[in-house]
Amino acid sequence: MIAPTEPGPVPPAQPDGEAEAQPKPRTEIRTEPRPEPRPEPQPDLNPRDEAETQANGQNDIGAAHDDIPEPYEGKYPIVIEGLRNSFGETLIHEDLSLKVRRGEILGVVGGSGTGKSVLMRSIIGLQRPQEGRIEVFGRDLIGAPAEEEFGVRSQWGVLFQGGALFSTLTVAENVEVPIKEFFPELHSDLRHEIARYKVVLSGLPAEAASKYPSELSGGMKKRAGLARALALDPELLFLDEPTAGLDPIGAAKFDTLTRELADTLGLTVFLITHDLDTLYAICDRVAVLADRQVIAVGTIPELLESEHPWIQEYFNGPRARAAVASATRHNERSTEKLRGGKALDRPGERGA
Ligand SMILES: Nc1ncnc2c1ncn2[C@@H]1O[C@H](COP(=O)(O)OP(=O)(O)O)[C@@H](O)[C@H]1O
Ligand SMILES: [Mg+2]
Repeated sequence: MIAPTEPGPVPPAQPDGEAEAQPKPRTEIRTEPRPEPRPEPQPDLNPRDEAETQANGQNDIGAAHDDIPEPYEGKYPIVIEGLRNSFGETLIHEDLSLKVRRGEILGVVGGSGTGKSVLMRSIIGLQRPQEGRIEVFGRDLIGAPAEEEFGVRSQWGVLFQGGALFSTLTVAENVEVPIKEFFPELHSDLRHEIARYKVVLSGLPAEAASKYPSELSGGMKKRAGLARALALDPELLFLDEPTAGLDPIGAAKFDTLTRELADTLGLTVFLITHDLDTLYAICDRVAVLADRQVIAVGTIPELLESEHPWIQEYFNGPRARAAVASATRHNERSTEKLRGGKALDRPGERGA
């Protein structure tokens, strides 16, 4: 996919082209007690798995944790060693290792079915590996007590491949789900206000907060999912194929938003994608999944030194050349527009 135009960085609060309405002032925020929420929200399940919905903020641990975790200051918020996952006879990962650096956007690529989503689900505890060690923020999560896992979960946000929004809840109510789960004592007014703030932060117009998922375009749904992923001010953001299904312009805007949010909020981003434009435009490093392992991780120029046939085919094919041209144009325009400000960097130039 090639982005024909690049709008340049926009403040995250700007609506994108898909938005039908202009943002309203924040005085809109509802301060009266709300009517009783509809009982038992039904998630918009195509999701293959209820677990994703639960991971988005519904589980059976009722209590909030009192102590807000300290920001992680180590070098690697995610460390995976010797991971093994299989389904029946099918081995998906074997002796897979990977370290994600704090503050980077790590692109994760690999052929379809190589286990990218399974890897993400292993990290966030939705898939129990047969072997291996997974540390998130320095804590070994496999077999960790539920309370500890609960605490760490508040430090990450996830945008699942399918979106996994609750179809019977509005966008704002979707964003409020994890807030309610982790901070049940929080006054509802404040919760509504936080949710509306996250909606706007994700590039949706304020009016989108009261819309239902069915009323949103594909790009707006992704942003709504992003708003929910950002609900708890995470340090770590997981994005599974966030630009899949978006048109090139929408995808480029989403990329820009991701980079800006990562820079502004100091996020570490684990970004599964097959979108070469995304890799070239915003990723600091790229990890390649093949042969059941992470066969290489590095900047794109570093990866190009690998002789692995999949890497060569992927990064040296015609689509890659188009993506390089697009990223170059993108960076030139961004740098020009942002002279004196913060430009999007070329891959390989960001502390990788
Ligand atoms: N819950 C599951 N049960 C059985 N097989 C699964 C399950 N989840 C994923 N798989 C299989 O594992 C492989 C990797 O899946 P996935 O991680 O979704 O691939 P991708 O790299 O495209 O994200 C696929 O062959 C998929 O069919
Ligand atoms: Mg996948």
